Amino acid sequence: MKSKASGKYIKTTAGGEMVQAFVPNTLPPQLTAKELAALKEPLRNADAAIGKLRLAGEMIPSLDWFVYSFVRKEALLSSEIEGTQATLTDVLSYEQTGQTGSSGLEDLEEVTNYVRAINYAFDEQKSKNGLPISARLLDQCHLRLMQGVRGENKQPGEIRRSQVWIGGTRPGNAAFVPPPADKVRGLLGDLESYIHSNDDLPPILRVGAAHVQFETIHPYLDGNGRLGRMLIALLLDHWNLLSSPLLYLSVFLKAHQSVYYEMLDGVRAEGDWLGWFSFFLEGVEQTADDASKTACILYNQVSRDRKTLLAADSVTVSAIQLFEILPKTPVVSMPVVTKLLDTTKPTATKAIEILQQTDILSEVGSRKRDRIYKYERYLELLT
Ligand SMILES: Nc1ncnc2c1ncn2[C@@H]1O[C@H](COP(=O)(O)OP(=O)(O)OP(=O)(O)O)[C@@H](O)[C@H]1O
Ligand SMILES: [Mg+2]
Repeated sequence: MKSKASGKYIKTTAGGEMVQAFVPNTLPPQLTAKELAALKEPLRNADAAIGKLRLAGEMIPSLDWFVYSFVRKEALLSSEIEGTQATLTDVLSYEQTGQTGSSGLEDLEEVTNYVRAINYAFDEQKSKNGLPISARLLDQCHLRLMQGVRGENKQPGEIRRSQVWIGGTRPGNAAFVPPPADKVRGLLGDLESYIHSNDDLPPILRVGAAHVQFETIHPYLDGNGRLGRMLIALLLDHWNLLSSPLLYLSVFLKAHQSVYYEMLDGVRAEGDWLGWFSFFLEGVEQTADDASKTACILYNQVSRDRKTLLAADSVTVSAIQLFEILPKTPVVSMPVVTKLLDTTKPTATKAIEILQQTDILSEVGSRKRDRIYKYERYLELLT
């Protein structure tokens, strides 16, 4: 049953007001045998959904493009939580050509920064001398996340040095006051130790617990939500549940934002881990199911389009090569194709033409120069 706070409150000042800052207990979370029993069924369902996603991931010949697109979708949604409105096509056009389309540069930077941070973190995990999941790794991710105009005064790559509060117009009526700044480093160190220690708790619950702990510590001035969700993907890999970043909870957490916040508060104020874990497992199951489905749908679409292309009279080797890179790079321009296929301008132009004739690529807008093309059916499936 719900018991008591999963930490203690200490008096501190924020914005000139006296407030009660919350300092969480170290993990693991305290769960009774009864609570664990109540989680058995949702755990089984979540595990099954993750297992299916693992298979769906393996079914795809090039996992790369799938992951790539999903990372972008997550980035987009995460930024939407912050009110950013960049479209997927805008983001991809910007990456390929530096042209901003209808979205502002700041919106696009925010999304591409997020992709950069995730790719960096996963590359570090894969490389032999890379940083393990640690406070240092998170600092590096934060640095990448906060590049550019909006992040400038958010102390990129550094844990906060001041008291913050969440929700409310002033510290006194805040929904939540995270730990004082001088406690952050120690708390992050404890979280890091937990991540690298053994625990009898099922790994998926450990992932959920680590996410709450991270959000509660709230180590940075901004970007804690995005980093905390990135941490979920990293930990799924770390505890061998999913070896590639196929599962992002952003959509679920955005769709249920107020419940999500209530659940976080429930853990802190009442030690209601059962409530949080039930919610989290439901999110994992739904998200994994959706990702599996999307994997199949994308795979089928690409297979169908490949068939159409191969059956066309006009098909060339370069057109096929261009087609094969589209899932990873669904928005291209002539210079980009020239570079990616390592070919001449005329050959690249011809390849684009053939993919237009076969109705695979279509032009974005109607520019006279620097034309941009997109693999529309594929992009539509992603959004
Ligand atoms: N009222 C609240 N109660 C508890 N936790 C909250 C509340 N509001 C926000 N949070 C947590 O703080 C995160 C937001 O923190 P921050 O603004 O630093 O991150 P972000 O990445 O910029 O935002 P977002 O998560 O919205 O993309 C949320 O994702 C959530 O985990
Ligand atoms: Mg924010």
